[in-house]
Amino acid sequence: MIKIAPSILSADFGRLAEEIRKVEEAGADYLHIDVMDGHFVPNISIGPPVVASLRPQSSLVFDVHLMIEAPERYVAAFAEAGADILTVHFEAARHLDRTLRLIREHGMRAGVALNPATPPGMVEYVLPLVDQVLVMTVNPGFGGQKFLPEVVPKIAGLRRMVERQGVGTDLEVDGGIDPETAPAVVRAGANVLVAGSAVYGAADAAAMVQRLRAAGVG
Ligand code: DX5
Ligand code: ZN
Repeated sequence: MIKIAPSILSADFGRLAEEIRKVEEAGADYLHIDVMDGHFVPNISIGPPVVASLRPQSSLVFDVHLMIEAPERYVAAFAEAGADILTVHFEAARHLDRTLRLIREHGMRAGVALNPATPPGMVEYVLPLVDQVLVMTVNPGFGGQKFLPEVVPKIAGLRRMVERQGVGTDLEVDGGIDPETAPAVVRAGANVLVAGSAVYGAADAAAMVQRLRAAGVG
């Protein structure tokens, strides 16, 4: 079953509670929350206080994607704010193994994100500690960018690694996902699709969630 995670980066920040209700009613599985620090990526978005304010507004799984340097500093804050899945970037977490254990110790599911240039092997020896690998199919920092098709073989490589190790790690794909690009990533082995502009830009969000979830079927 393919899970759909709309990214609130493409929502209207002035009406966030309403925008979240909209995708929950549209049948989304997760709410993807992009956290940016202006250092790891050139953009600045939101932090723990906003996540904490949104928590009582929604029963969706909060899938928090940290695009910040030294993310271990904020694990406790995001746990307290109500994150369910906390994903850190391989490129930003110097002691990745320790950080993944810290995330789980705080009762959250642990994720690792890989930038387009980062090889899949970087997670090989920590995979049993990883509940979700997030494969970036754009360079992180902004919504609405063009999908990078050269990353697709990396998803297939990670799927083989997950099977070889017999772990239940989810493979999430983030960046430029729409009904045109989704089938290729699902065929390669992705089972969680982040979609920002595709869902928030759609006239009918529920229909878009359905179309994305059906990607790769048949
Ligand atoms: C990019 C973010 C993505 C972004 C996706 O740095 O991690 O989650 O919001 O937006 P779309 O789906 O528009 O590429
Ligand atoms: Zn993201």
